[in-house]
Amino acid sequence: MASKLIHGDALALMPQMPARTFDAVITDPPYCSGGLSKRANHRGNSKYVAAQYTEFDDGATRDQMQHFFWTREWLSEARRLTKKRGYPIAFSDWRQLPLLMRAASFTGWTLQGVFTWAKCSGRPFLGQFRRDTEFALVATNGTPLPFMQSPVRKSPSAFLAEPMPPAQKLHCTSKPVKLMQHLMEVLPPNASILDPFCGSGTTLVAAERLGHNSTGIECVEDIFKLAQSRLAEESNQLL
Ligand SMILES: C[S@@+](CC[C@H](N)C(=O)[O-])C[C@H]1O[C@@H](n2cnc3c(N)ncnc32)[C@H](O)[C@@H]1O
Repeated sequence: MASKLIHGDALALMPQMPARTFDAVITDPPYCSGGLSKRANHRGNSKYVAAQYTEFDDGATRDQMQHFFWTREWLSEARRLTKKRGYPIAFSDWRQLPLLMRAASFTGWTLQGVFTWAKCSGRPFLGQFRRDTEFALVATNGTPLPFMQSPVRKSPSAFLAEPMPPAQKLHCTSKPVKLMQHLMEVLPPNASILDPFCGSGTTLVAAERLGHNSTGIECVEDIFKLAQSRLAEESNQLL
């Protein structure tokens, strides 16, 4: 098993990678879902990035049309990089899920369903349901293997309740490692995984713990360095 981190813009780097390299692209891209107020919508930094990160320009404030075309672009590259029958598993919130599904459809992925993550916490709205879930779109590059031929002898649930304690958050949109490990249960052993928007490297940590190979891309230097030191620590612990 090996993990590799690359600093740069995924949309510039993915086209340089050879086709059909990965069994899965598992990622938590920027949602561009807007802030708490109209003013906050114009300040990606305040909603998405902790104050210690000096530089942040990942387009978290794109409008819907820009975000749709950007999503189409990376999903299209992701499909070129994914082996036949391989997966994209990409997170979204409730607001942007229809956009993500449409972009996946447009780029030729075969939609397989939506995984639900119950965050066990979430913004309260008096008289309304809490917004305490996020979703991961699951699709395949072509039809999946029929069950009898699948190397995976499991039927994992498409739902997981798993908290992300604030004290353990390394990135303002950190995902729990257990959640990422759960998503990997549909993958064959020694799978190769790409996370083009890897943030603090949670996907890579989960892959490492399960014996998969992974590549992560992160464009913000401070966050890239954070992921680097996290992975180094993880490798030491696994020795
Ligand atoms: C939602 S966060 C991922 C957080 C991750 N799940 C974790 O647990 O740390 C998305 C990350 O993608 C990065 N990003 C945004 N646009 C990018 C691009 N074009 N290329 C590479 N990274 C990008 C952002 O800087 C951010 O760290």
